[in-house]
Amino acid sequence: MIKNDRANFGSKIGAVLASAGSAVGLGNIWRFPYETGNHGGAAFILIYIGCVLILGIPIMVAEFLIGRHSRANTAGAYQRLAPGTQWHWVGRMGVLAGFLILSYYSVVAGWTLQFILEAATNSFAGKSPTDFINAFSSFSSNPWQPLIWLVVFLLVTHFIIVKGVEKGIEKSSKIMMPVLFILLLVLATCSVSLPGASDGIRFLLKPDFSKVDSSVFLGAMGQAFFSLSLGMGCLCTYASYFRRETNLSKTALSVSAIDTFVAIVAGFIIFPAAFSIGIQPDAGPSLLFITLPNVFQQAFSNIPALAYLFSVLFYVLLALAALTSTISLHEVVTAYLHEEFHLSRKSAAAIVTSGCIVLGTLCSLSLGVGKGYTLFGLGLFDLFDFVTAKLMLPLGGLLISIFVGWFLNKRIVCKEISNNGVLNRPYYRLFIFILQFIAPIAILFIFINGLGLF
Ligand code: TRP
Repeated sequence: MIKNDRANFGSKIGAVLASAGSAVGLGNIWRFPYETGNHGGAAFILIYIGCVLILGIPIMVAEFLIGRHSRANTAGAYQRLAPGTQWHWVGRMGVLAGFLILSYYSVVAGWTLQFILEAATNSFAGKSPTDFINAFSSFSSNPWQPLIWLVVFLLVTHFIIVKGVEKGIEKSSKIMMPVLFILLLVLATCSVSLPGASDGIRFLLKPDFSKVDSSVFLGAMGQAFFSLSLGMGCLCTYASYFRRETNLSKTALSVSAIDTFVAIVAGFIIFPAAFSIGIQPDAGPSLLFITLPNVFQQAFSNIPALAYLFSVLFYVLLALAALTSTISLHEVVTAYLHEEFHLSRKSAAAIVTSGCIVLGTLCSLSLGVGKGYTLFGLGLFDLFDFVTAKLMLPLGGLLISIFVGWFLNKRIVCKEISNNGVLNRPYYRLFIFILQFIAPIAILFIFINGLGLF
């Protein structure tokens, strides 16, 4: 039953890097700062870190072990591990979530391409903060410009997906992750040394718990799932390409640590700069795109060549980080269609890409000419973001923890965690306890409060 012709990630570091490539993306550098800004700063970050530790890491290990044990796409995985049950719906819901996320995520990924172009043609030079705000709002509400970039971005993702797992995914992650890391650190150093940056640093480090309400918890939990690529079978699909020797717990720890580190460094780039030039921290999805060009202009005002170099490099890396994430989202849906409906990988990928172009177009238009059209008070872009990050992913996480905690045979769990008895498993009991009790109760509690169900 178990197919042996599936691809594998070539090396141990390949598994970590590919998963980290999926996790690190716009979620860290674009979404984390604006959610932090919307939810009042440091207290949100503390709750976020709590969510990563208590929910994120254990659920990531759970996804890994489901994927590696079954060696199938996410819906197929549940069919293999729990044949004749309804658990495969968890996988299917994940596939749907992945499709929706890919659609609106690609809109923002497309914006990064526009910014590469602007950086490369030196059009940031000499502009004021207000110019950047106006330029971004006229770009993002332009009916056709963002659409072109959306299509370009999805086609690049498509091309890499068709080339296959190892060549495409692994290689690109190996090169770009370390470079991105270094550049982020350089930019954070520049940002904190801008005049007036200390207010931003205070915003990040001094928690104001009076602002914490149930929506802050829901926001932090959603952000943790989104940023770690959890709750929809993404890392489960990647783990189906892991080798037998990959240490699942260690991989989950490294990926979560890298992901959280990048998000926090991104916070140290955005907020000191935003406070320094008077941009409101709760500017929403535009925050990154209106703040950052100022960092390049102001921090390197004496050395325009450096401003030019760093801005081009940054947007290229941001686009690449987004690319390794769109690849992982696309792969979930493509692997599902390919394996469950016996389509060729090429046709499966073509269906996903065209579907996302259509939905992505609608999401993009909902920020401009289609602003008036709302559902539950939200435009399509915001609606997709809310439904996936704040509902579908935590619900997926809840079901995954129940599946591994209560349903899956503990011999399988043990075997995967210890690589067939080779590795020690000192935290095994704690892991099972979290999956059985802590994670389901915490997620339900945050849900019920955050959505105001009672
Ligand atoms: N985690 C990625 C980011 O932070 C986005 C992403 C990739 C994702 N795969 C996912 C989000 C699966 C949720 C589920 O940019």
